[in-house]
Amino acid sequence: MAKKSKAADDSGFKIPPGMAGESFSGFARPEKFSGEDEGDAVLRPRRFQEFLGQKQIKENLSVFIEAAKARGESLDHLFLIGPPGLGKTTLAQVVANELGAEFKVTSAPALEKPKDLAGILTTVTEKTVFFIDEIHRLKPAIEEMLYIAMEDYELDWIIGAGPSARTIRIPIQPFTLVGATTKAGNVSSPLISRFGITCRFSFYDETDMEAIVRRSAGILKVPIDDDAARLLAKSARGTPRVVNRLLRRVRDFGYFLAEGQKTLQSKITKDVVLESLSRLEIDKLGLEKHDREILRIIIERYSGGPVGAETLAISIGESVDTLEDYYEPFLIQAGLLQRTPRGRMVTALAYEHLNPEKRGREGGLLF
Ligand SMILES: Nc1ncnc2c1ncn2[C@@H]1O[C@H](COP(=O)(O)OP(=O)(O)OP(=O)(O)O)[C@@H](O)[C@H]1O
Ligand SMILES: [Mg+2]
Repeated sequence: MAKKSKAADDSGFKIPPGMAGESFSGFARPEKFSGEDEGDAVLRPRRFQEFLGQKQIKENLSVFIEAAKARGESLDHLFLIGPPGLGKTTLAQVVANELGAEFKVTSAPALEKPKDLAGILTTVTEKTVFFIDEIHRLKPAIEEMLYIAMEDYELDWIIGAGPSARTIRIPIQPFTLVGATTKAGNVSSPLISRFGITCRFSFYDETDMEAIVRRSAGILKVPIDDDAARLLAKSARGTPRVVNRLLRRVRDFGYFLAEGQKTLQSKITKDVVLESLSRLEIDKLGLEKHDREILRIIIERYSGGPVGAETLAISIGESVDTLEDYYEPFLIQAGLLQRTPRGRMVTALAYEHLNPEKRGREGGLLF
């Protein structure tokens, strides 16, 4: 390892500020995984009009919502799949608002016993949108209760115990279940088959990200130059949550970089964004330090791969879930990483990105 690090110093590869000598065990649990950001509520879109991008999803859902409203029925159950921060929770709330329906929220780990689910379902009113986050983590007994609730709008309830126990069926109001997951592969097929509508989120393109930056900057009353907005949009992993957080950090740096004339309304220029990105160690592809470390570990320790997810997760000091849900989708989308049946492999682009000067050199370790 020490030998490789030395080679890294000699390679001419420019280490971004603050990265020299960093240790691979230094993975902190990323704040982006902790769900809600501070100040996020004001930025969260309430209606389709404010929910930017994901055009296909919006167009289809608008049709289904209008049709359900015209028929006076509840909307079919909705399954939302996609990496963190792309807007699943937001969309569920928007759907409830568009339907003019009540919105109830829980997450699968919070439902410990069937009575927790029954407690919510017996209080839903007609057409309520009931959102269950992380639906891949439902306990089997709760999942079974949900099947009947989704299909027949009834609850199976067991009264008594032992030989005298009997099941009664309690009717509930027709509601819409919205289930969200970052791991569609972990949801059982009986559950998936009970959702009438499935929406798969993709990373936002630069145009949509730019529109999100402008909208958020407008709400936060932060003046921003066009090229600054464009650069921010490109540097945020195609993820609205990330771009909103970046915008707030850039606003902070803007305040301190506006020497002599500190004002909370300092205009964000391209230079402020560039300086902020460098201080936050975000590179031109929008990769953060941890992303680069993952690629670097695969290259340095596993000759570019393949390496199994469990082994890789241990090497980076993260859980397999965090690796698979947060880091990998963007690295794959950016063309830097591949999932193969034998494990994870970096691509030629990853070598090029981490070490442009040695591009094309054959075999061996690059650092
Ligand atoms: N289409 C959008 N347009 C504008 N802003 C958006 C959009 N989608 C999401 N956002 C912003 O990004 C933030 C994160 O979105 P949200 O919490 O809905 O993501 P999520 O997919 O539920 O993530 P997780 O899997 O971590 O729960 C929202 O608070 C909102 O401010
Ligand atoms: Mg969410």
